[in-house]
Amino acid sequence: MTIPTPGEGAGSTTATTAAGGPLRRMCWIFPDRESTRTGAMWQHYFWDLYAEVAQELGMSWTRHSPDAVTVDGTVRGKPLVYVDDELVDPQDTLFITALYSLPYQSMDIFNQYALYAVLEQAGFYLPFPPLMSLIGNDKLATILHLDGSPVPPIPSIRIGSGRDVGKHLYEVALANMTYPAIVKPAGWCGGGGINLARSSEDIRGLASLAQGGDTTLVIQPYLGDGTVDYRVYVIDGKPYAVLKRTPEAGSPVANASRGGTMEFAEIPDELAAATAYFAEKMPIPFFCIDFLFDGERYWFSELEPDGVIAPDFDDPNRSLQRDITRARFTAYRDAHAQWLANTPGTAALTLTPGTETR
Ligand SMILES: Nc1ncnc2c1ncn2[C@@H]1O[C@H](COP(=O)(O)OP(=O)(O)O)[C@@H](O)[C@H]1O
Ligand SMILES: [Mg+2]
Repeated sequence: MTIPTPGEGAGSTTATTAAGGPLRRMCWIFPDRESTRTGAMWQHYFWDLYAEVAQELGMSWTRHSPDAVTVDGTVRGKPLVYVDDELVDPQDTLFITALYSLPYQSMDIFNQYALYAVLEQAGFYLPFPPLMSLIGNDKLATILHLDGSPVPPIPSIRIGSGRDVGKHLYEVALANMTYPAIVKPAGWCGGGGINLARSSEDIRGLASLAQGGDTTLVIQPYLGDGTVDYRVYVIDGKPYAVLKRTPEAGSPVANASRGGTMEFAEIPDELAAATAYFAEKMPIPFFCIDFLFDGERYWFSELEPDGVIAPDFDDPNRSLQRDITRARFTAYRDAHAQWLANTPGTAALTLTPGTETR
């Protein structure tokens, strides 16, 4: 299988763009916590391109912290939802509700989840349902939910790091662990906090360090030096493209944040075949499944609901990044139209503020 050329992929946008749909606005609930440096980096890396592609499709793509949303629920049956001070309507607006929970974002977690529930109850289409967000956020929840994967999940143990971490009670679960082991946060991303442990004694040290941030940990056997990470972008249930990430020599972590290199690659047959299982378990328009290849076999590693669509910087037009993004947004628009058609009452919603009060 090869990666699609723009407009010819499994989720090809050519046909669906013409048909369109009522979706006009995609709002991502995302904590407003980046540093100046990191914020500028992501802007260039993907935020600007996402917004551009949305605009080409006649839509907008914007980011909002949870506190940007205000809800007037005084009129029974007609909640009025504002993003900043603008009234938004389930007819033409969806919200991306994929949780981010890096350490500097942790103060937003409860507000994000609380808002997800409110938006769902207010009748908005959420292409990544809140329960899926919980499952995708925690590496062990992911593996348990997708335990039937034809590509075996990496054997994993999840331990807390609370006040009794020094009692080592979690060691009851370490009997099957082999070393070296990978020790990593259960709910971060981007390669942050990934460590190698040579023994349960190293785990004691890492767990006590994790206590500093109330960080839950996942422990897995280390699949070995040179392990490659394959991200499959699944769009409309089909494998659309693959991002291959290779660690720098001497590093166990393939993410760019730790010096790894990225390239779009052909979709390995085994991973393409496995997609059907994931699509059936998660009938949503877009998600990413990450696999690790240890040199001999593949392992199912992670679910990333909104896995970053990486830039192909060697192409000045970044055609692949653009194409995958376009396919993702088109899939959202189609799914939103389908959802409207299947959801009784949504067509009848009229949003006129202040016409009736309780
Ligand atoms: N069990 C493992 N064996 C070998 N490498 C691993 C293992 N777990 C993680 N890694 C390496 O660390 C990277 C990041 O780990 P991952 O579980 O994907 O966390 P994140 O959510 O931060 O991306 C992986 O892409 C891989 O390179
Ligand atoms: Mg990863």
